[in-house]
Amino acid sequence: MTATEHQQQTNPLEEGLLLRRTPDPCALVIFGASGDLTHKKLMPALYALMLRRLLPARFAIVGVARTDGDDDAFRSDMKDAVQKHARDVFRKDVWDELAQNMHYVATDFADDGGENKLQDLLTKLDKERDLGENRVYYLAVPPAAFPTIVDELGKRRSASGWTRLIVEKPFGHDLESARELNTMLREHFEENEIFRIDHYLGKETVQNMNALRFANGIFEPIWNRQFIDHVQITVAESIGIEGRSGYYESAGAIRDIFQNHLLQLLALTAMEPPVDFTAESVRNEKVKVLKALHTPGPKSVVRGQYGRGYVEGEEVVAYREEQGVAPDSMTETFVAAKLYVDNWRWADTPFYVRMGKRLARRETTIAIQFKRAPHPPFGEVASEGLRPNVLLVHVQPDEGVSLAIGAKVPGQGMTIRTVHMDFLYGGAFRTSLPEAYERLILDTLLGDGTLFTRADEVEEQWLLVDSIVAAWQRDRPSFPNYAAGTWGPPSAEDLLQRDGRSWRRN
Ligand SMILES: NC(=O)c1ccc[n+]([C@@H]2O[C@H](COP(=O)([O-])OP(=O)(O)OC[C@H]3O[C@@H](n4cnc5c(N)ncnc54)[C@H](OP(=O)(O)O)[C@@H]3O)[C@@H](O)[C@H]2O)c1
Repeated sequence: MTATEHQQQTNPLEEGLLLRRTPDPCALVIFGASGDLTHKKLMPALYALMLRRLLPARFAIVGVARTDGDDDAFRSDMKDAVQKHARDVFRKDVWDELAQNMHYVATDFADDGGENKLQDLLTKLDKERDLGENRVYYLAVPPAAFPTIVDELGKRRSASGWTRLIVEKPFGHDLESARELNTMLREHFEENEIFRIDHYLGKETVQNMNALRFANGIFEPIWNRQFIDHVQITVAESIGIEGRSGYYESAGAIRDIFQNHLLQLLALTAMEPPVDFTAESVRNEKVKVLKALHTPGPKSVVRGQYGRGYVEGEEVVAYREEQGVAPDSMTETFVAAKLYVDNWRWADTPFYVRMGKRLARRETTIAIQFKRAPHPPFGEVASEGLRPNVLLVHVQPDEGVSLAIGAKVPGQGMTIRTVHMDFLYGGAFRTSLPEAYERLILDTLLGDGTLFTRADEVEEQWLLVDSIVAAWQRDRPSFPNYAAGTWGPPSAEDLLQRDGRSWRRN
């Protein structure tokens, strides 16, 4: 037995996913089977689910792409991908069991009858394996390919069995295109059959935000404007655009991160306690936050673009020097904003958010900064090293939660300093965390949409983004305005300094 197997069988804390029911028999059809996402995320996730016996006993994976290929070539390609990208050690017996359920169809749905090849195979698999005509279709293709595929799938829905559709981001480019996409999907699928991916929602630490707030009696009573001074959310990447200039030039930080991941983190932080943890209850609460969200004015949103600099000791080029980027590109690689949630819980409490590429380090955190103690009885000098209480949720890396509190410095006299009480996932549960895609694929197989975004959520997110982008048309900042390896442009610092606050540094 390997160390990992031993740990999985003996660590009583590693139950999580194991406690769930097994999904119905079904076929998972991945469109975009020759692409990056399938190699790096989807197949490693399916392998992890297989290893933990979480896939249905009767199951088939069908890869679809236009590139020529057959079952053997697909299996061999995916085996390499799993060996390279899976979080678990590679076990031949597990792989062989998974591989015998894998098939490949080379076809283009844009061609007349292009979908027949897939239908023929699915009919055959249904007969051979008794899959009950249950289907999950995963759209891991560029958005331009969605309409043709969805249209054909919709026309050929089976009368028996269930059908679910996973849609990758980006979900639209603005409100209008997102609405069009929603309308197109709803022509063929019910809302509860559509699973819009925001992979941040599949992260353990993001779900832990719900556990922290609603499984503990101590936080909720103080989770409001009376006790909280402000909230800071940071989604910082140290990497650049990693060769994805085609996508990034038309997206920028506002569409790549702000519109989806960042607004979801904010909604989870600010939402009211749901009555239960069903998809509708949770999403109803999130959408209320998104509806109440606004920026106080154009000056409350700043943008930046990185110039040359040093990241982790290495010299890196400016955004405009990246391959495929226009030398005068005005695409933003950084956004910081002040937002308000207009409701009783949060009125006048700022939510400061920032996100960007080529920042000083990789970090996703949610920092809840509480108001200072009303009266320091120890005198100003003794309390000089005391900062306000902060509850810091580390989404990545170093996943965990940390609470900054004031403590007495040992020795004579009364000097107070800020110290940290830390909970680290790795230390407390002694296990590696599941990848977001494992959870999201499994939830789709089970028909649980709680961790997926609903049509109205996506549209609210775009409504805010559109208003910000419209305001940007009125001025042209001078780019680049921050050096790679720093925390963004000076205007991001000013945003908080104007309010007598500053960004967290650690
Ligand atoms: N990669 C990631 O980490 C990541 C993260 C988040 C979201 N996504 C999203 O996931 C989707 C796939 O991304 P990716 O990185 O895997 O892209 P990719 O590496 O370019 O792969 C695209 C896949 O789609 C297929 N494809 C391309 N055009 C098609 C068309 N017109 N009709 C049918 N199939 C077509 C390609 O296969 P053939 O050319 O062989 O047909 C290929 O398998 C995109 O929507 C992307 O935004 C990706």
